[in-house]
Amino acid sequence: MDNTLALLLDAYGFISGRARALGADVFDTRLLMRKTTCVTGAEAARVFYDPDRFVRRKAAPHRLTVTLFGKGGVQSTDGATHAARKAMFMSFMTPASRERLSELARDRWREYIRRWEGMPRVNLFDESSRLICEAVFDWAGVPLPARLVDPMTERLKSMIEAPAAVGPRYVRGRLGRIRAEQSLGELIRLVRRRPPEATILSTIAHYRDPDGSLLDPRVAAVELLNVLRPTVAVGRYVVFTALALHAHPEHRERIRGGDEEFTEHFVQEVRRFYPFFPLVAARVARPFEWRGHRFPAGRRVLLDLQGVNHDPRLWDRPGEFRPERFAEGDWDGSAYTFVPQGGGDHYRDHRCPGEWITIDLMKTAARALTREMTYHVPPQDLRMSSSYAPAIPRSRFVIDHVRAAG
Ligand code: HEM
Repeated sequence: MDNTLALLLDAYGFISGRARALGADVFDTRLLMRKTTCVTGAEAARVFYDPDRFVRRKAAPHRLTVTLFGKGGVQSTDGATHAARKAMFMSFMTPASRERLSELARDRWREYIRRWEGMPRVNLFDESSRLICEAVFDWAGVPLPARLVDPMTERLKSMIEAPAAVGPRYVRGRLGRIRAEQSLGELIRLVRRRPPEATILSTIAHYRDPDGSLLDPRVAAVELLNVLRPTVAVGRYVVFTALALHAHPEHRERIRGGDEEFTEHFVQEVRRFYPFFPLVAARVARPFEWRGHRFPAGRRVLLDLQGVNHDPRLWDRPGEFRPERFAEGDWDGSAYTFVPQGGGDHYRDHRCPGEWITIDLMKTAARALTREMTYHVPPQDLRMSSSYAPAIPRSRFVIDHVRAAG
Protein backbone atom coordinates (compact mmCIF):
# COMPACT_ATOMS: atom_id res chain seq x y z
CA MET A 1 0.00 0.00 0.00
CA ASP A 2 1.28 3.47 -0.89
CA ASN A 3 1.43 5.74 2.15
CA THR A 4 2.02 9.09 0.39
CA LEU A 5 -1.37 10.41 1.48
CA ALA A 6 -0.81 9.38 5.10
CA LEU A 7 2.53 11.24 5.02
CA LEU A 8 0.97 14.37 3.49
CA LEU A 9 -1.83 14.37 6.07
CA ASP A 10 0.57 14.07 8.99
CA ALA A 11 3.97 15.18 7.68
CA TYR A 12 5.41 15.81 11.15
CA GLY A 13 4.13 12.73 12.95
CA PHE A 14 4.16 10.07 10.23
CA ILE A 15 7.61 8.56 10.84
CA SER A 16 7.81 8.87 14.63
CA GLY A 17 4.21 7.64 15.05
CA ARG A 18 4.80 4.51 13.04
CA ALA A 19 8.23 3.91 14.52
CA ARG A 20 6.76 4.07 18.02
CA ALA A 21 3.93 1.69 17.08
CA LEU A 22 6.46 -0.78 15.64
CA GLY A 23 8.92 -0.33 18.50
CA ALA A 24 11.75 0.26 15.98
CA ASP A 25 13.76 3.25 14.69
CA VAL A 26 13.64 1.91 11.13
CA PHE A 27 10.87 0.62 8.87
CA ASP A 28 10.11 0.18 5.17
CA THR A 29 7.07 1.66 3.48
CA ARG A 30 5.90 2.77 0.02
CA LEU A 31 5.97 6.51 -0.73
CA LEU A 32 5.48 8.18 -4.12
CA MET A 33 5.20 4.67 -5.63
CA ARG A 34 8.68 3.69 -4.41
CA LYS A 35 9.85 1.41 -1.66
CA THR A 36 11.24 3.82 0.94
CA THR A 37 12.97 3.33 4.29
CA CYS A 38 12.17 5.72 7.15
CA VAL A 39 14.52 6.23 10.10
CA THR A 40 14.34 8.17 13.35
CA GLY A 41 16.47 8.77 16.45
CA ALA A 42 19.98 10.08 17.10
CA GLU A 43 21.77 6.88 16.07
CA ALA A 44 19.86 6.80 12.80
CA ALA A 45 20.86 10.45 12.19
CA ARG A 46 24.53 9.52 12.67
CA VAL A 47 24.22 6.71 10.11
CA PHE A 48 22.25 8.94 7.71
CA TYR A 49 25.07 11.52 7.65
CA ASP A 50 27.77 8.94 6.89
CA PRO A 51 28.91 9.92 3.35
CA ASP A 52 30.19 6.37 2.73
CA ARG A 53 26.66 5.02 3.14
CA PHE A 54 24.49 7.68 1.53
CA VAL A 55 24.45 9.93 -1.53
CA ARG A 56 22.16 12.79 -2.50
CA ARG A 57 22.20 12.45 -6.31
CA LYS A 58 18.65 11.69 -7.41
CA ALA A 59 17.56 11.40 -3.77
CA ALA A 60 14.95 14.18 -3.75
CA PRO A 61 11.51 13.54 -5.22
CA HIS A 62 10.92 15.35 -8.55
CA ARG A 63 8.33 17.75 -7.09
CA LEU A 64 10.85 18.96 -4.52
CA THR A 65 13.53 19.52 -7.16
CA VAL A 66 11.29 21.60 -9.44
CA THR A 67 10.02 23.85 -6.64
CA LEU A 68 12.16 24.06 -3.51
CA PHE A 69 15.66 22.97 -4.60
CA GLY A 70 16.10 23.59 -8.33
CA LYS A 71 18.06 21.28 -10.63
CA GLY A 72 21.83 20.92 -10.28
CA GLY A 73 22.21 22.73 -6.95
CA VAL A 74 24.45 21.76 -4.00
CA GLN A 75 21.68 19.64 -2.42
CA SER A 76 21.98 16.99 -5.15
CA THR A 77 25.79 16.86 -5.33
CA ASP A 78 28.19 14.41 -3.65
CA GLY A 79 31.94 13.96 -3.07
CA ALA A 80 34.41 16.56 -4.35
CA THR A 81 31.76 18.66 -6.13
CA HIS A 82 29.72 18.89 -2.95
CA ALA A 83 32.77 19.74 -0.81
CA ALA A 84 33.82 22.58 -3.15
CA ARG A 85 30.34 24.06 -3.52
CA LYS A 86 29.75 23.77 0.20
CA ALA A 87 33.02 25.56 0.93
CA MET A 88 31.72 28.44 -1.20
CA PHE A 89 28.49 28.64 0.83
CA MET A 90 30.41 28.48 4.10
CA SER A 91 32.67 31.33 2.90
CA PHE A 92 29.59 33.57 3.13
CA MET A 93 29.26 32.75 6.84
CA THR A 94 32.37 34.45 8.29
CA PRO A 95 31.76 36.45 11.50
CA ALA A 96 32.13 39.76 9.61
CA SER A 97 29.71 38.71 6.89
CA ARG A 98 27.18 37.45 9.46
CA GLU A 99 27.47 40.71 11.38
CA ARG A 100 26.77 42.68 8.20
CA LEU A 101 23.56 40.73 7.53
CA SER A 102 22.45 41.21 11.14
CA GLU A 103 23.03 44.98 10.82
CA LEU A 104 21.12 45.15 7.55
CA ALA A 105 18.22 43.26 9.13
CA ARG A 106 18.30 45.42 12.26
CA ASP A 107 18.06 48.60 10.15
CA ARG A 108 15.16 47.15 8.13
CA TRP A 109 13.29 46.21 11.33
CA ARG A 110 13.54 49.85 12.52
CA GLU A 111 12.33 51.16 9.16
CA TYR A 112 9.46 48.62 8.98
CA ILE A 113 8.32 49.28 12.56
CA ARG A 114 7.88 52.96 11.65
CA ARG A 115 5.86 51.93 8.58
CA TRP A 116 3.72 49.52 10.64
CA GLU A 117 2.76 52.37 12.99
CA GLY A 118 0.60 53.74 10.18
CA MET A 119 -1.03 50.40 9.31
CA PRO A 120 -4.28 49.15 10.86
CA ARG A 121 -3.11 45.50 10.76
CA VAL A 122 0.26 43.93 10.13
CA ASN A 123 0.60 40.39 8.77
CA LEU A 124 3.89 39.47 10.42
CA PHE A 125 4.60 36.55 8.08
CA ASP A 126 4.30 38.66 4.93
CA GLU A 127 6.04 41.69 6.39
CA SER A 128 8.98 39.91 8.01
CA SER A 129 9.57 37.85 4.84
CA ARG A 130 9.61 41.11 2.84
CA LEU A 131 11.92 42.80 5.34
CA ILE A 132 14.36 39.89 5.24
CA CYS A 133 14.12 39.76 1.44
CA GLU A 134 15.32 43.36 1.21
CA ALA A 135 18.13 42.68 3.68
CA VAL A 136 19.40 39.50 2.01
CA PHE A 137 19.40 40.99 -1.52
CA ASP A 138 21.44 43.86 -0.15
CA TRP A 139 23.77 41.43 1.65
CA ALA A 140 24.25 39.31 -1.47
CA GLY A 141 24.90 42.34 -3.70
CA VAL A 142 21.85 41.55 -5.88
CA PRO A 143 20.02 44.68 -7.09
CA LEU A 144 16.34 44.75 -6.13
CA PRO A 145 14.39 47.81 -7.31
CA ALA A 146 11.57 48.89 -4.94
CA ARG A 147 8.84 47.85 -7.39
CA LEU A 148 10.20 44.27 -7.43
CA VAL A 149 10.35 43.74 -3.66
CA ASP A 150 6.80 42.41 -3.38
CA PRO A 151 6.82 40.12 -6.46
CA MET A 152 10.28 38.77 -5.58
CA THR A 153 9.31 38.06 -1.95
CA GLU A 154 6.18 36.24 -3.16
CA ARG A 155 8.18 34.28 -5.73
CA LEU A 156 10.69 33.10 -3.13
CA LYS A 157 7.94 32.26 -0.64
CA SER A 158 5.99 30.32 -3.28
CA MET A 159 8.91 27.89 -3.75
CA ILE A 160 8.88 27.07 -0.04
CA GLU A 161 5.10 26.61 0.12
CA ALA A 162 4.92 24.36 -2.97
CA PRO A 163 6.62 20.96 -2.48
CA ALA A 164 3.90 19.25 -0.45
CA ALA A 165 1.00 21.01 -2.19
CA VAL A 166 -1.35 20.15 -5.05
CA GLY A 167 -3.17 22.58 -7.36
CA PRO A 168 -2.50 26.34 -7.49
CA ARG A 169 -0.05 26.37 -4.58
CA TYR A 170 2.17 23.85 -6.37
CA VAL A 171 1.86 25.63 -9.73
CA ARG A 172 2.76 28.99 -8.15
CA GLY A 173 5.94 27.46 -6.75
CA ARG A 174 6.97 25.94 -10.08
CA LEU A 175 6.32 29.17 -11.98
CA GLY A 176 8.02 31.20 -9.26
CA ARG A 177 11.15 29.09 -9.66
CA ILE A 178 11.15 29.23 -13.46
CA ARG A 179 10.86 33.04 -13.44
CA ALA A 180 13.41 33.56 -10.69
CA GLU A 181 15.94 31.25 -12.40
CA GLN A 182 15.44 33.12 -15.67
CA SER A 183 15.97 36.61 -14.28
CA LEU A 184 18.86 35.62 -11.99
CA GLY A 185 20.44 33.56 -14.83
CA GLU A 186 20.53 36.73 -16.96
CA LEU A 187 22.06 38.64 -14.08
CA ILE A 188 24.78 35.96 -13.72
CA ARG A 189 25.64 36.37 -17.43
CA LEU A 190 25.96 40.15 -16.99
CA VAL A 191 28.11 39.84 -13.87
CA ARG A 192 30.49 37.45 -15.65
CA ARG A 193 31.41 40.24 -18.06
CA ARG A 194 32.70 42.30 -15.11
CA PRO A 195 35.81 41.61 -13.00
CA PRO A 196 35.13 39.56 -9.84
CA GLU A 197 34.00 41.52 -6.76
CA ALA A 198 33.73 40.54 -3.09
CA THR A 199 29.97 39.98 -3.20
CA ILE A 200 27.97 36.77 -2.91
CA LEU A 201 26.49 37.40 -6.38
CA SER A 202 29.94 37.80 -7.97
CA THR A 203 31.42 34.85 -6.05
CA ILE A 204 28.69 32.52 -7.33
CA ALA A 205 28.87 33.93 -10.87
CA HIS A 206 32.64 33.33 -11.08
CA TYR A 207 32.71 30.06 -9.08
CA ARG A 208 34.25 27.03 -10.81
CA ASP A 209 33.52 23.38 -9.98
CA PRO A 210 36.55 21.12 -9.23
CA ASP A 211 36.77 20.22 -12.96
CA GLY A 212 37.52 23.91 -13.67
CA SER A 213 34.24 24.72 -15.40
CA LEU A 214 32.01 27.69 -14.65
CA LEU A 215 28.50 26.72 -13.61
CA ASP A 216 25.83 26.77 -16.27
CA PRO A 217 24.13 30.19 -15.71
CA ARG A 218 20.91 28.41 -14.75
CA VAL A 219 22.73 26.31 -12.12
CA ALA A 220 24.49 29.45 -10.86
CA ALA A 221 21.02 31.01 -10.51
CA VAL A 222 19.94 27.91 -8.54
CA GLU A 223 22.89 28.41 -6.17
CA LEU A 224 22.16 32.13 -5.80
CA LEU A 225 18.56 31.18 -5.02
CA ASN A 226 19.99 28.73 -2.46
CA VAL A 227 21.10 31.81 -0.50
CA LEU A 228 18.14 34.11 -1.16
CA ARG A 229 15.17 31.70 -0.84
CA PRO A 230 15.97 30.03 2.50
CA THR A 231 16.96 33.34 4.07
CA VAL A 232 13.52 34.71 3.19
CA ALA A 233 12.14 31.49 4.70
CA VAL A 234 13.42 32.70 8.08
CA GLY A 235 10.21 34.83 8.02
CA ARG A 236 8.50 31.63 9.16
CA TYR A 237 10.81 31.41 12.16
CA VAL A 238 10.06 35.08 12.90
CA VAL A 239 6.38 34.09 13.13
CA PHE A 240 7.28 31.19 15.45
CA THR A 241 9.40 33.55 17.57
CA ALA A 242 6.42 35.93 17.87
CA LEU A 243 4.12 32.99 18.57
CA ALA A 244 6.41 31.76 21.37
CA LEU A 245 6.59 35.26 22.89
CA HIS A 246 2.79 35.43 22.72
CA ALA A 247 2.30 32.01 24.30
CA HIS A 248 5.02 32.58 26.95
CA PRO A 249 5.03 36.32 27.77
CA GLU A 250 7.05 35.56 30.93
CA HIS A 251 10.14 35.28 28.69
CA ARG A 252 9.79 38.74 27.12
CA GLU A 253 11.52 40.65 29.91
CA ARG A 254 14.83 38.76 29.83
CA ILE A 255 15.13 39.23 26.07
CA ARG A 256 14.07 42.88 26.28
CA GLY A 257 16.59 43.47 29.08
CA GLY A 258 19.47 42.24 26.90
CA ASP A 259 20.14 38.78 28.38
CA GLU A 260 22.05 37.49 25.35
CA GLU A 261 22.51 33.95 26.62
CA PHE A 262 18.81 33.58 27.31
CA THR A 263 17.94 35.07 23.90
CA GLU A 264 20.12 32.40 22.29
CA HIS A 265 18.40 29.64 24.31
CA PHE A 266 15.00 31.07 23.43
CA VAL A 267 15.58 30.98 19.67
CA GLN A 268 17.16 27.52 19.91
CA GLU A 269 14.03 26.30 21.67
CA VAL A 270 11.89 27.93 18.95
CA ARG A 271 13.89 25.96 16.35
CA ARG A 272 13.51 22.73 18.32
CA PHE A 273 9.88 23.10 19.30
CA TYR A 274 8.14 24.45 16.19
CA PRO A 275 7.89 22.33 13.05
CA PHE A 276 9.67 23.38 9.86
CA PHE A 277 11.03 20.79 7.42
CA PRO A 278 9.76 17.43 8.66
CA LEU A 279 12.39 15.23 7.01
CA VAL A 280 15.35 14.96 4.63
CA ALA A 281 15.99 12.39 1.89
CA ALA A 282 19.11 10.49 0.77
CA ARG A 283 19.84 7.34 -1.29
CA VAL A 284 21.84 4.32 -0.17
CA ALA A 285 25.29 4.43 -1.85
CA ARG A 286 26.20 0.79 -1.23
CA PRO A 287 24.30 -1.99 0.59
CA PHE A 288 24.65 -2.23 4.38
CA GLU A 289 22.77 -3.45 7.43
CA TRP A 290 21.82 -1.42 10.49
CA ARG A 291 20.00 -2.87 13.48
CA GLY A 292 19.36 -6.01 11.47
CA HIS A 293 17.61 -4.03 8.74
CA ARG A 294 18.83 -4.30 5.11
CA PHE A 295 19.52 -1.07 3.21
CA PRO A 296 19.88 -2.05 -0.48
CA ALA A 297 21.83 0.20 -2.90
CA GLY A 298 19.70 2.95 -4.44
CA ARG A 299 16.94 2.82 -1.76
CA ARG A 300 15.50 6.24 -0.81
CA VAL A 301 15.80 6.82 2.94
CA LEU A 302 14.01 9.54 4.91
CA LEU A 303 15.37 10.91 8.19
CA ASP A 304 12.73 12.20 10.63
CA LEU A 305 14.09 15.63 11.64
CA GLN A 306 10.98 16.57 13.58
CA GLY A 307 11.00 13.22 15.43
CA VAL A 308 14.63 13.64 16.53
CA ASN A 309 13.93 17.15 17.88
CA HIS A 310 11.04 15.72 19.91
CA ASP A 311 12.50 12.33 20.83
CA PRO A 312 11.73 11.68 24.54
CA ARG A 313 14.93 9.58 24.73
CA LEU A 314 16.91 12.77 23.97
CA TRP A 315 14.78 15.59 25.36
CA ASP A 316 13.17 15.94 28.78
CA ARG A 317 9.39 16.55 28.31
CA PRO A 318 9.87 17.37 24.60
CA GLY A 319 6.30 18.67 24.19
CA GLU A 320 6.97 21.60 26.54
CA PHE A 321 8.44 24.90 25.37
CA ARG A 322 11.29 25.50 27.81
CA PRO A 323 14.26 27.65 26.67
CA GLU A 324 15.92 26.84 30.03
CA ARG A 325 16.56 23.30 28.78
CA PHE A 326 19.50 24.68 26.79
CA ALA A 327 21.02 26.05 30.03
CA GLU A 328 20.29 22.87 31.96
CA GLY A 329 22.30 20.66 29.60
CA ASP A 330 19.35 18.96 27.90
CA TRP A 331 21.43 19.27 24.71
CA ASP A 332 25.11 18.30 24.85
CA GLY A 333 25.95 20.01 21.54
CA SER A 334 25.77 16.76 19.55
CA ALA A 335 25.34 17.24 15.80
CA TYR A 336 22.82 14.38 15.68
CA THR A 337 20.28 15.13 18.42
CA PHE A 338 19.17 18.67 17.54
CA VAL A 339 18.56 18.79 13.79
CA PRO A 340 16.03 21.45 12.70
CA GLN A 341 18.38 22.31 9.83
CA GLY A 342 19.89 18.87 9.32
CA GLY A 343 22.71 17.11 11.19
CA GLY A 344 26.38 16.25 10.85
CA ASP A 345 29.12 18.71 9.93
CA HIS A 346 28.41 22.03 8.18
CA TYR A 347 31.43 21.69 5.86
CA ARG A 348 31.58 17.96 5.19
CA ASP A 349 27.91 17.00 5.19
CA HIS A 350 24.68 18.39 3.78
CA ARG A 351 23.83 20.18 7.02
CA CYS A 352 22.35 23.62 6.34
CA PRO A 353 25.08 26.24 5.77
CA GLY A 354 22.60 28.95 6.77
CA GLU A 355 22.11 27.75 10.34
CA TRP A 356 24.14 30.55 11.98
CA ILE A 357 22.53 33.37 10.00
CA THR A 358 19.12 31.84 10.76
CA ILE A 359 19.91 32.06 14.48
CA ASP A 360 21.26 35.62 14.03
CA LEU A 361 18.12 36.75 12.18
CA MET A 362 15.88 35.13 14.79
CA LYS A 363 17.73 36.91 17.61
CA THR A 364 17.39 40.20 15.73
CA ALA A 365 13.65 39.51 15.44
CA ALA A 366 13.32 38.55 19.13
CA ARG A 367 15.09 41.76 20.17
CA ALA A 368 12.99 43.91 17.81
CA LEU A 369 9.72 42.34 18.99
CA THR A 370 10.53 42.90 22.66
CA ARG A 371 12.72 46.01 22.70
CA GLU A 372 12.06 48.11 19.64
CA MET A 373 8.27 48.00 19.47
CA THR A 374 5.02 47.45 21.30
CA TYR A 375 2.05 45.76 19.64
CA HIS A 376 -1.22 44.01 20.32
CA VAL A 377 -2.22 40.54 19.16
CA PRO A 378 -5.92 40.59 18.17
CA PRO A 379 -8.06 37.42 18.31
CA GLN A 380 -7.20 35.16 15.36
CA ASP A 381 -6.82 31.51 14.40
CA LEU A 382 -3.27 30.63 15.45
CA ARG A 383 -3.73 26.87 15.03
CA MET A 384 -1.44 25.01 12.66
CA SER A 385 -2.87 22.32 10.41
CA SER A 386 -1.00 19.00 10.54
CA SER A 387 -1.57 18.57 6.80
CA TYR A 388 0.03 21.88 5.78
CA ALA A 389 3.81 21.65 5.45
CA PRO A 390 5.88 23.62 6.11
CA ALA A 391 3.67 24.52 9.05
CA ILE A 392 2.39 28.04 9.70
CA PRO A 393 -0.47 29.41 11.85
CA ARG A 394 -3.68 29.71 9.83
CA SER A 395 -3.80 33.49 10.46
CA ARG A 396 -0.05 33.86 9.71
CA PHE A 397 0.20 36.00 12.93
CA VAL A 398 -1.50 39.37 12.70
CA ILE A 399 -0.61 42.27 15.01
CA ASP A 400 -2.07 45.76 15.39
CA HIS A 401 -1.50 49.00 17.37
CA VAL A 402 2.22 48.88 16.54
CA ARG A 403 4.30 51.63 18.17
CA ALA A 404 8.06 52.12 18.03
CA ALA A 405 9.43 51.83 21.58
CA GLY A 406 11.07 54.80 23.29
C1 HEM B 1 20.11 22.62 3.64
C2 HEM B 1 16.68 23.84 6.83
C3 HEM B 1 17.89 28.48 6.35
C4 HEM B 1 20.87 27.32 2.74
C5 HEM B 1 19.12 22.57 4.59
C6 HEM B 1 18.53 21.35 5.09
C7 HEM B 1 17.58 21.69 5.97
C8 HEM B 1 17.56 23.12 6.05
C9 HEM B 1 16.66 20.74 6.74
C10 HEM B 1 18.87 19.94 4.59
C11 HEM B 1 19.94 19.27 5.38
C12 HEM B 1 20.28 17.96 4.76
O1 HEM B 1 20.01 17.74 3.57
O2 HEM B 1 20.83 17.10 5.43
C13 HEM B 1 16.66 25.21 6.90
C14 HEM B 1 15.73 25.96 7.70
C15 HEM B 1 16.06 27.26 7.56
C16 HEM B 1 17.21 27.33 6.68
C17 HEM B 1 14.59 25.37 8.52
C18 HEM B 1 15.38 28.44 8.18
C19 HEM B 1 14.59 29.14 7.48
C20 HEM B 1 18.88 28.56 5.42
C21 HEM B 1 19.56 29.76 5.07
C22 HEM B 1 20.40 29.46 4.06
C23 HEM B 1 20.25 28.03 3.75
C24 HEM B 1 19.38 31.12 5.75
C25 HEM B 1 21.30 30.45 3.38
C26 HEM B 1 22.49 30.20 2.98
C27 HEM B 1 20.85 25.95 2.63
C28 HEM B 1 21.58 25.20 1.61
C29 HEM B 1 21.39 23.84 1.89
C30 HEM B 1 20.52 23.78 3.06
C31 HEM B 1 22.42 25.80 0.47
C32 HEM B 1 21.98 22.65 1.14
C33 HEM B 1 23.27 22.21 1.83
C34 HEM B 1 23.91 20.98 1.26
O3 HEM B 1 23.26 20.24 0.52
O4 HEM B 1 25.10 20.75 1.55
N1 HEM B 1 18.53 23.64 5.20
N2 HEM B 1 17.54 26.05 6.30
N3 HEM B 1 19.32 27.53 4.62
N4 HEM B 1 20.22 25.07 3.47
FE1 HEM B 1 18.98 25.57 4.95
